[in-house]
Amino acid sequence: MSNNKIVKGFSKLSKEAKIEWITNEYLNGDDQYIKFLKSYWHNDSKVQKIHDEFIENTITNFYIPFGVAPNFLINGKVYCIPMAIEESSVVAAASKNAAFWMKRGGFKSKVISTTKIGHVHFAWYGNFKVLKKFISSIKHKFFEESQEMTKNMNERGGGILDIEVINRADLEPNYYQLQAKFETCDAMGANFINSLLEKFSKILERELHQSNLTKKEKKIIIIMCILSNYTPECIVRCEVNCSVDDLSDDPNVNSIEFAKKFQQAIHVANIEPYRATTHNKGIFNGIDAVVIATGNDFRAVEACGHTYASKSGQYKSLTNVEIKDGKFKFWIDLPIAVGTVGGLTSLHPMVKFSHQLLGNPNAEKLMEIIAAAGLAQNFGALRSLVTTGIQKGHMKMHLLNILNQLEASKEEIEKIKEYFKDKVVEHSAVVNFFNELRKMKKEKFINKEN
Ligand code: MEV
Repeated sequence: MSNNKIVKGFSKLSKEAKIEWITNEYLNGDDQYIKFLKSYWHNDSKVQKIHDEFIENTITNFYIPFGVAPNFLINGKVYCIPMAIEESSVVAAASKNAAFWMKRGGFKSKVISTTKIGHVHFAWYGNFKVLKKFISSIKHKFFEESQEMTKNMNERGGGILDIEVINRADLEPNYYQLQAKFETCDAMGANFINSLLEKFSKILERELHQSNLTKKEKKIIIIMCILSNYTPECIVRCEVNCSVDDLSDDPNVNSIEFAKKFQQAIHVANIEPYRATTHNKGIFNGIDAVVIATGNDFRAVEACGHTYASKSGQYKSLTNVEIKDGKFKFWIDLPIAVGTVGGLTSLHPMVKFSHQLLGNPNAEKLMEIIAAAGLAQNFGALRSLVTTGIQKGHMKMHLLNILNQLEASKEEIEKIKEYFKDKVVEHSAVVNFFNELRKMKKEKFINKEN
């Protein structure tokens, strides 16, 4: 048994008291930390309260940049897409590649289906045929007894689509699932689905108990009730295309060679999981940034995308390319469950703003926009990787981070930016040049003094 002391009632302390406690316990009671944490509080206490109440034990806010990527032509409409992300080159790449495709007809995005799924996972002891027949005989009760909970969703055109029992005893003896499919309209639907699944489990337990099945067949162990974040039936396809000849806007890059190399890059991601992981990470640079800005759950979105990328048994690229009859076609099939109502969407002021900026899209429109952001990001990454190399653009954007770390002055920043304008930015080269500048400045100062 460890002697570690458990802190009791921490969550009940005021925000100030929590800060004081962590400062005393972990930061040598140094009150500069108190000032520091408070300096990140919003100066409007009402806004701060909203943020405080999103989670437990909030002590301050954590900033990440909120940028916008203009020039996204999606299904004939131009969007300026909000992106919340810390990585320096992502918004720049999204904007640049959105403008590139705007000149070539833009992104064509289409939602293929919007079905979500959840399971009651349970153990049961008997013949599957008996279970299947029994569940089919009580199926109507799941729908009838949850009417109260589904009323609003039904009015919006959603609800429970289907319920069936799945035999998973091949994976684990006596393991079965009650699998339910849902339409949740503009809501992400997690609470709706999970509440219904818990209700279904109670109905199932009760009905088995009251049935005239054998004693053994009446026994059920509910393992858990939970939606699946894997939503292969909630999926959007986004595509760009142009003639191969039109694929390069750089006189130093031959369009046909570029198209071929681009295709090879996708092929490498399809056969090599080491590459596929980075390839898809780049796609999620774009996707997550919009998902976060619009108040959606980026962990769910990522988990779903990565499972989908492995659906063949091997982890592969989420994007595809085809070069045929002189045409270049590049697309993504993206399973993604997002909401435009509920959750943070009406609470978080910046999330509300993002939705307004996008023209208050419904969930399907938002799926279409997010897929375009992911596709643009992947196009930009592959374009750089197979032509100039990634570091040129990436480090150009990262230069300012390095200079800020070095605490360079405004004047030094301008000089260093100018110097690296036509060079590949490399960390050590920047540091050396910066030190050189400082040395020169010091020498000048000493000479002046003498
Ligand atoms: C960096 O955040 C993302 C890339 O590595 C993606 C890729 O390699 O495709 C540039």
